[in-house]
Amino acid sequence: MTKDYLKEYDAAAEADKYPLVQKWMKTEPLPFFKQLRAERPVLVTPECTLLALFTDIRDCLQMPKIFTVDLYKPKMGVTDTDEGYLMAHDDDALHYREKSIMQGMLNRDDLPRVREGIRKSAQKILDDANGRLDIVDNYTRMVPALMVQEYFGLDGIDPKKLLKWSFWNQYNTFHNQPFDLNSKEKYDHIVSEHGKCSVELVDYITVLMVRKILTVKIKDRILGTGLKVLNVLRAICKKDPVVLKDDIVKRMLRTSFAEQVDFPLTRIGTNAGGLLIGSVETTSQAVAQVIQYFIDRPELLVKAKAASRQEDTAAIDALVWEALRFVPISPYMFRQTSEDYTIAKGTDRETAIPKGTNVLTLTQSAMFDTYAYDNPDDFNPDRNWYHNFNYGFASHDCLGKYVGMAMIPEMVRQIMLRDDLKAVLDMDYEDGPFPEKYELSWK
Ligand code: HEM
Repeated sequence: MTKDYLKEYDAAAEADKYPLVQKWMKTEPLPFFKQLRAERPVLVTPECTLLALFTDIRDCLQMPKIFTVDLYKPKMGVTDTDEGYLMAHDDDALHYREKSIMQGMLNRDDLPRVREGIRKSAQKILDDANGRLDIVDNYTRMVPALMVQEYFGLDGIDPKKLLKWSFWNQYNTFHNQPFDLNSKEKYDHIVSEHGKCSVELVDYITVLMVRKILTVKIKDRILGTGLKVLNVLRAICKKDPVVLKDDIVKRMLRTSFAEQVDFPLTRIGTNAGGLLIGSVETTSQAVAQVIQYFIDRPELLVKAKAASRQEDTAAIDALVWEALRFVPISPYMFRQTSEDYTIAKGTDRETAIPKGTNVLTLTQSAMFDTYAYDNPDDFNPDRNWYHNFNYGFASHDCLGKYVGMAMIPEMVRQIMLRDDLKAVLDMDYEDGPFPEKYELSWK
């Protein structure tokens, strides 16, 4: 018999209602969301309002000035004197300008090269492991950290520091909000660890900027003249030109912006930090959860292994995206309303949401809504990508999504290619929001 979540919810004391919702979202999201979609698609709890239907979620995420990311502001450096990171801005000049500049910097033509880099670092880590590895710190976190160093250019530092900075930043921003119900002690601890990491990150970025500016402005100029001559000779001999080493930080520094574009060095530094923060913990969680999803389902594991052996990566990519619908890195994105708004006007579920309400858009529920998905409970890798919310939606959709779309399946693929793959121990979250340990063995 299917469980009646709403009956239990309605019978619960006021103070117990949201904790129940939180528990179900963590432990049994799919049947809970199914009942919400069918019976109460807008659930108003004492802590926040939950939206369960595809159309309401799409509607909400398309109105960033009304459904704002204000809850990000204190976590992303926004103060009276500092604009902080672009992600904490809603459809304003800074967000529009910096997001588009950064989208251009992360040139999608780089992706084959990025994927090849991921393949090499992943293979090396697995080859060196001799058939047994706790994949979280050593692989699912380390491979994106190496990408951050090599492609994004946040180099010259122990990658473990990058892991730590990404971890506390993501923890504080996405899992230390009012609706996470953390104790005051836990809340303060996370804020304090994030604070320490921010100081270290700013110091590191400052030194990095100076070092890279020197490289770009001095070394490039000296080498550049020599290279021009050399490349004329190489062209005559029909050889490929020699090019200066490129990464995203260098690329930003080599680009000159008119003053009116308003993208000074300080903003380049902030955006370089953002690349790191967004990359590591998100990728780690997605990769670890998809690998577990495959390993726990022998029939699917056979398919994933067969797809991984193909030179064309389309099949494994599709399997990975479909798996992420079942095990996304979060079942929701959150917003805060800046004014009163009535959602789903003219329908049975029409609900007035007062200004200042925290809203959870249950994006995982949206990915199981029959409005957008046929037979949503079936695992079907052949789905319409445009209905997928794993990289967010509309103006705040993920800046790194195309990098992630190359990196995540390639990392899963390299694990799938190992023979006799087994989980030695179950995945352990150690009571936190992210996978912390997952030991695998292979031949
Ligand atoms: C690969 C490196 C990555 C980078 C550099 C990155 C960076 C970013 C940035 C800057 C934003 C905010 C964009 C904005 O506000 O306009 C964003 C949003 C988002 N990213 Fe990523 N990200 C990365 C990987 C990932 C991965 C692997 C996932 C999940 C599988 C992910 C999920 C999301 C989601 C769901 C949002 C939307 C958040 C919201 O709307 O509130 N990202 N990302």
